[in-house]
Amino acid sequence: MTVHFIGAGPGAADLITVRGRDLIARCPVCLYAGSLVPKELLSYCPSGARIVDTAPMSLDEIEAEFAAAHAQGLDIARLHSGDLSIYSALAEQLRRLDRLAIPYTVTPGVPAFAAASAALGREFTVPELTQSVVLTRMPGRASAMPEGERLAAFAATGATLVIHLAIQSIDTIVDQLSPVYGADCPVAVVVRASWPDERILRGTLGSICAQVAAEPIERTALVLVGRALAAHDFRESALYDPDYRRRFRGSRG
Ligand SMILES: C[S@@+](CC[C@H](N)C(=O)[O-])C[C@H]1O[C@@H](n2cnc3c(N)ncnc32)[C@H](O)[C@@H]1O
Repeated sequence: MTVHFIGAGPGAADLITVRGRDLIARCPVCLYAGSLVPKELLSYCPSGARIVDTAPMSLDEIEAEFAAAHAQGLDIARLHSGDLSIYSALAEQLRRLDRLAIPYTVTPGVPAFAAASAALGREFTVPELTQSVVLTRMPGRASAMPEGERLAAFAATGATLVIHLAIQSIDTIVDQLSPVYGADCPVAVVVRASWPDERILRGTLGSICAQVAAEPIERTALVLVGRALAAHDFRESALYDPDYRRRFRGSRG
């Protein structure tokens, strides 16, 4: 018996991996993380599968589901939104499975930040402008932010910032980033990236608070900040430069 953790992707049901979909189809038990996992994915479960929404459950209750399936020799498909590498509560679940000596696998998924990049039609790294992306979040009820992980500290690097759990803190974000990035720095808010009701607001640190205040915005949103979001006059990367290709990849002629 194995617990298969599967990144369910950002929202669109067809953004799950083929591996993830096939695992769902093989598992007689499916635990899925509430509202952010698209319900269409549950249609891949085999008929008669036990399907449980874990949103209202405690970690102890989820552990009890793992243990009960283990006792019956039933594999579990465990679905979390996006990818499992960030904000998925994977670490604490794996620690409990290790304690119970229950085997598991982890299948990656398309994270929300990648879906936001696709929705914006923007690469977050641009040659010689920014080559780093910071995936971070605002403090929330679930856990506090470690002392060193301040927005202003990340901003000092000039990286593109992708801020999760952020829409309710847009004023704080603007206050903390404006002194470093400037009021004209591009900002985008991507709401429910890849869902049918996806929405995008494009503005600057100077304008975004008013834009967000003007209309109700769903909490499933990312706030993205950085010069890469509106860069036009940047150098092309050397990757496709003919001289670079001759020197590092050999000549075709
Ligand atoms: C608990 S985190 C899960 C992140 C997920 N593990 C991932 O890989 O993207 C949930 C937060 O991610 C962001 N998020 C998740 N799905 C999103 C989407 N489709 N569009 C925009 N933001 C999304 C929102 O900030 C939301 O509050």
